Amino acid sequence: MNDLFDGLDPPPPAREDIAPGAVLLRGRALAHEAALIEAVAAIAAQAPFRHMIVPAGFTMSAAMTNCGDAGWVTDRGGYRYDAIDPESGRPWPAMPDVFRALAGAAAAEAGHPGFAPDACLVNRYAPGARLSLHRDTNERDFTQPIVSVSLGLPATFQFGGAKRSDPTRRIALRHGDIAVWGGPARLAFHGILALKDGEHPRLGRMRINLTFRKAR
Ligand code: SIN
Ligand code: FE2
Repeated sequence: MNDLFDGLDPPPPAREDIAPGAVLLRGRALAHEAALIEAVAAIAAQAPFRHMIVPAGFTMSAAMTNCGDAGWVTDRGGYRYDAIDPESGRPWPAMPDVFRALAGAAAAEAGHPGFAPDACLVNRYAPGARLSLHRDTNERDFTQPIVSVSLGLPATFQFGGAKRSDPTRRIALRHGDIAVWGGPARLAFHGILALKDGEHPRLGRMRINLTFRKAR
């Protein structure tokens, strides 16, 4: 019994199943929020957020940057992982230890021990920004999970199945939540609905998402 919650509603469960192979670890990143936010600022100082262009020519509404040995990029030529930031011609910033350690620990807690990400895509959403339903398929090894850390304004995550037409669930991703999908969920369609406006005490009118992958 936790005295803090005496007479109040019980705290929400720390672990929720999204789908077979997909788990939500509520608040799992909260203890690290200051270090994570500081690290994102340091990454963005070296590799600024930018709005990339998808092969069909549209500009993505979420701004992106990367850290790690490989970064996910898109342009007229397609989607790929690249060791070099095309904007600067330099390697992406190194993955901070706090990122690697947290992603590895969260993956293990979700049932995927030994996760060693080499790529972290950092997404920044302003109110109205969204990410349409897609699958993460540019990685080489689909036995490795995806680990997603949410910071700032809450978002609605859509999580479906292996086919685009499969029904989707809607899950609130809040500041500090970590979602992990692997195994039978690794190639599930997922997306983020248009971000609602709001003011987050730490990050203001913004949502940041860190998506860790083993790309190569
Ligand atoms: C992604 O699918 O790459 C990011 C999802 C998110 O922003 O939560
Ligand atoms: Fe994705």
